Amino acid sequence: MATMEQKALKKGIRELLAARNAVLLAHNYQRDEIQEIADITGDSLGLSQEAAKTEADVIVFCGVHFMAESAAILSPGKTVLLPRMDAGCPMADMIAPDDLRAWRDAHPGAVVVTYVNSSAEVKALSDVCCTSGNAVNVVRSIPAGKEVFMVPDRNLAHYVAKVSGRRLSWWDGYCPTHERLSAADAARAREAHPEAELIVHPECRPEVVAMADAVLSTSGMYGYCRRSAAKEFIVGTEMGILYRLRKENPGKRFHIASRALICPNMKLTTLEDVRDALSSLTPVVTVPKEIREKACEALEAMLRVPRDAS
Ligand code: 13P
Ligand code: SF4
Repeated sequence: MATMEQKALKKGIRELLAARNAVLLAHNYQRDEIQEIADITGDSLGLSQEAAKTEADVIVFCGVHFMAESAAILSPGKTVLLPRMDAGCPMADMIAPDDLRAWRDAHPGAVVVTYVNSSAEVKALSDVCCTSGNAVNVVRSIPAGKEVFMVPDRNLAHYVAKVSGRRLSWWDGYCPTHERLSAADAARAREAHPEAELIVHPECRPEVVAMADAVLSTSGMYGYCRRSAAKEFIVGTEMGILYRLRKENPGKRFHIASRALICPNMKLTTLEDVRDALSSLTPVVTVPKEIREKACEALEAMLRVPRDAS
């Protein structure tokens, strides 16, 4: 239930959005009240696509730093605001540009596929980006016989290798939030809710992915739960996803697979932060031209690959 204070804040934000010709994008893991007020909510891929096509002058990105960077890369003429500059992604920080440069030097001719959860500089050193929603299709689009290296998420890479049947190598990064979901947690949830389907994100550990009925990006989960005949679901991803799942499926029940599935960075942004960012038009995320142009090629190569229906 929104308090009077929240209602007033939301009204003020809507007025500022109109005055600034701004669009508010929010990732599916954001706080409920942020998702409620957003113009568009989505997964990393959907939000990149929206950032690339918006007519607005200002993009307010409620998510983490790499997402705002992707928006700045794809929409160079626009002002991209990240209301909390300290909202980073620990997985993106697990690979440094020099790590990737060294790998490339040792493997000439290999194709580097970089998960969007990475810095602009790492993207700039890559051939093509991917998200959890299109990673399998991106890898399938690479000619057979080419060596493929995926960075930075070992769990996503493991899943893609399994589904595509392709031999891949990968960097040893991981998402600390998804990594906290153990096979024992998933088994306990299954025991407690025997009728429920288990749906998980590919950032989960391979042993958890192996137990799942479906492995999906965050937006993929919305489509899946809408279409499924099941009435109950155990959800293996960050708990912010529950807001829209419950809203869109009032007749269905959703259980989080573990209470540890909370990303502190995704929860930093508050309504006050959004209001302040719109009032002051700061903090702005920018990417230096040389990095931007190279990273843009990798992101555009990804956007040309079709995603699965969701
Ligand atoms: P998607 O929304 O693309 O599935 O990404 C999950 C994630 O961890 C974003 O930080
Ligand atoms: Fe990064 Fe994981 Fe948080 Fe997504 S959920 S921002 S991958 S730490």
